[in-house]
Amino acid sequence: MNKIDVVKQMAESNPENGSAWYLLGLEYAQIGQNNEALQAFTQALRFCDHALQQQIIVELGKLAASNTSPSHPQLVQHEAFEQTSVTVQEVELDIPQQVETQEDSSTFQVISGGQAGKRGREKERVTFEDVGGLHEVKNAIHMKIIKPFVSPELFELFKKKVGGGILLYGPPGCGKTFIAKATAGECRARFIPIHISDILDPYIGGSEQNLREIFSSARANNPSVLFLDEMDALGYNRSRASSNSMRTVVDTLLTEIEGIETSTEKMLIIGATNMPWDVDPAFKRPGRFDKMIFVSPPDEEARKTIFQIKLTERPVVDIDYDWLAKETDLYSGADIENVVETATEMVITEIMKTGVERPIQMNDLKQAIASTNPSTIEWLRTVKNYVKYANQGGMYNDVESFLSRYKRI
Ligand SMILES: Nc1ncnc2c1ncn2[C@@H]1O[C@H](COP(=O)(O)OP(=O)(O)O)[C@@H](O)[C@H]1O
Ligand SMILES: [Mg+2]
Repeated sequence: MNKIDVVKQMAESNPENGSAWYLLGLEYAQIGQNNEALQAFTQALRFCDHALQQQIIVELGKLAASNTSPSHPQLVQHEAFEQTSVTVQEVELDIPQQVETQEDSSTFQVISGGQAGKRGREKERVTFEDVGGLHEVKNAIHMKIIKPFVSPELFELFKKKVGGGILLYGPPGCGKTFIAKATAGECRARFIPIHISDILDPYIGGSEQNLREIFSSARANNPSVLFLDEMDALGYNRSRASSNSMRTVVDTLLTEIEGIETSTEKMLIIGATNMPWDVDPAFKRPGRFDKMIFVSPPDEEARKTIFQIKLTERPVVDIDYDWLAKETDLYSGADIENVVETATEMVITEIMKTGVERPIQMNDLKQAIASTNPSTIEWLRTVKNYVKYANQGGMYNDVESFLSRYKRI
């Protein structure tokens, strides 16, 4: 069976697996079967999260561009052309008109598409600038993975070993997926998000095969950042009952991770979990996910930045960002986004009722905050026990020092 067939089977046997459809799309696009690629991407769009959606939109943009490029090596028939371009427009491309360049020609990537500046477009490439706070996380990611990625010579000179990945952990909604995507943006690499639970296959050998396919796809589409979410879903801590079959899946993933030659393959790996205590210890050894990074709830300064980021480009008046930050202790980035969305919704509803337009005001945001609660507390209470009773090797020291600031948890 060739690779496309395997990925296809993976997608068809689990049709709600957006990542699989996405990978299938990438495979088709690579061999110039644009129509099939389009269908796969369209299917992926139905079952994807926001991060994957952005990736799919980029790929659709490339498809549209390649369809109109006379130099494309594999021209498809005229009929297919038309059909493709119509459907691509139907899915509303939100792609900024930008050509990205960088010094290193081996990672040169051109992202272009759509019709320029027709309306306000969502910025497609997320970078560290879009992530509020998390300075230590950004620094760690810089040192551990971006630097070796963009200046391998330096590491070669000092014989510093490159490789392995980082494992992000923390309460939900605090930006693990977001910062992984931003890392790809910083390196101008392709972001390939994979949910571990999507690739687990009840048939013997199926999960291993899925994993190998994903890695080989990521290799073929480099430079890439492979983001493995829900690392806790894999491994013996969670699934002692079926630990034997899980073992080979874990081993396959370990082999793949250890096999990555970061410098030559231009492929980075970032894992994430909300439940680090359930992650198989084998992943935490050197050469694997040897750095665990705590992605904490944003501090006051970070919350202020996140409010600014989320409210920019919306009509607002007289916003006291310091007040908002002060009143949202332990709110996650996603909680803040929710506050902004709730306030916006309230204003829109009012405008529809009264017919009188007005911008978002402090009062709307205050009401939205009053109607919501921070979602991170439950996670912090759970982790507290692990810090107390299972902090081997100081694994949770960062969490411990975070918690020491909150007596109420
Ligand atoms: N530090 C942050 N800065 C800006 N936005 C954030 C931040 N943290 C979370 N968000 C917002 O919340 C959303 C959910 O975050 P996400 O990365 O999916 O959380 P996690 O993966 O940790 O569960 C993001 O898409 C982003 O819009
Ligand atoms: Mg996430």
